[in-house]
Amino acid sequence: MTQLSSHKANALTGRLRVPGDKSISHRSLIMGTLALGESRISGLLEGEDVLDTAKAMRALGADIRRDEAGDWRVIGVGVGGLCQPDTALDMGNSGTGARLVMGLVATTPHSVTFTGDASLSSRPMKRVTDPLTKFGASFHGAKDMTLPLTVSGIEDPLPIEYEVPVASAQVKSAILLAALNTPGKTTVIEKTPTRDHTERMFEHFGVEIAITPHGKSTAITVTGQPELTARDMVVPTDPSSAAFPTVAALITPGSDILIENVGMNPSRTGIYTTLQEMGGDVSFVNERLECGESVADIRVRYSPLNGVTVPQDRAPSMIDEYPILCIAASFATGETVMRGLEELRVKESDRISVMVAGLQAAGVQVVEHDDGMSITGQTSIPGGARVKTHLDHRIAMSFLTLGMASDQPVTVDDGRVIETSFPGFRDLMNGLGAQITDQIKDPA
Ligand code: S3P
Repeated sequence: MTQLSSHKANALTGRLRVPGDKSISHRSLIMGTLALGESRISGLLEGEDVLDTAKAMRALGADIRRDEAGDWRVIGVGVGGLCQPDTALDMGNSGTGARLVMGLVATTPHSVTFTGDASLSSRPMKRVTDPLTKFGASFHGAKDMTLPLTVSGIEDPLPIEYEVPVASAQVKSAILLAALNTPGKTTVIEKTPTRDHTERMFEHFGVEIAITPHGKSTAITVTGQPELTARDMVVPTDPSSAAFPTVAALITPGSDILIENVGMNPSRTGIYTTLQEMGGDVSFVNERLECGESVADIRVRYSPLNGVTVPQDRAPSMIDEYPILCIAASFATGETVMRGLEELRVKESDRISVMVAGLQAAGVQVVEHDDGMSITGQTSIPGGARVKTHLDHRIAMSFLTLGMASDQPVTVDDGRVIETSFPGFRDLMNGLGAQITDQIKDPA
């Protein structure tokens, strides 16, 4: 494990570009695999989660090549053309990779075993195995449906109609991917809208997809067994990754940064709305559309923040950003209330209890609820904590951000986990003026 410490920083200044969007990167490799011919991807995130999905797609028959940083080519096998992998698919730390690829193989005649690291092996998979069973697939493994699991796919799947019981883009996407190799029309009903990158990718590849109101919900209907041909894809940079320098600049006096080319899909930008409501000087410039996804540059300047109550229905659009929002809330005047977040307990770690433990160790006033947290901010945070990251990249980056503005350094026990989503985090942040080191420096 590589311990990292973050020391109080002077102003953060300059321009930067964060890595490619993780959600879109997974989907671009999967869609390239399902299309015949050569699809080119630019801006692919080369984080471990996505590299594990690339390995899985190779094992299922795709020819995948890296030309240069971020530029990849996928020569696909077509819908219905996946092969039987020789070995288990190790999805590493990635819930998205595991759940989406399970959907993909559920409607093939193959038997595929999925494994993962300790974090992934404790995460719930029943939310995907339940709907995939309805197509006719079967699952073998532990009773509680955690990894390792073997999927016995179904050669003649039946189309389904399924209302997703949790707000989850991963579950929705697993079903939509299973639907691609299923004859007829499959419908997913979504009560709470979640990120729609799969739907946009399907449109980009010419899949027949209808998105219609269904009472207060949305029905997404896909016509299966299309013949897909290769398409080029441009991956915007990740708004979830950009949230770390955004909050770092908001809490570090004198800061003024520009984050270039960030994905602005409205199903992902709840954190920016919330930070603006807190009084954060966050503005969007040069807004444009790239490959069906909107992008913009984000200008962020240091700002005194105020506590807010985050509307619960905003949660799906900022579900990965609560750890870093906690850091902003720690410096805000008054209380920030974050509720309706049961899903945070089943992410890469239990993000409610892990954040609460780390914040308390750093001297932040925080109250834990079953479904969230309330934080009362302070103008100065003592810091001086050594935080356990529990194999969770966003916990590591959040606490390193806290260290940039707390009185004493904040240390995380495992900085290596950051590689899953944000390779180069330390150098990029240090380039702006942060002081992240692999040792606690002696006081000057
Ligand atoms: C993701 C969906 C979200 C998110 C995850 C990526 C995706 O998970 O937390 O980091 O790419 O579909 P859920 O769908 O489980 O909420």
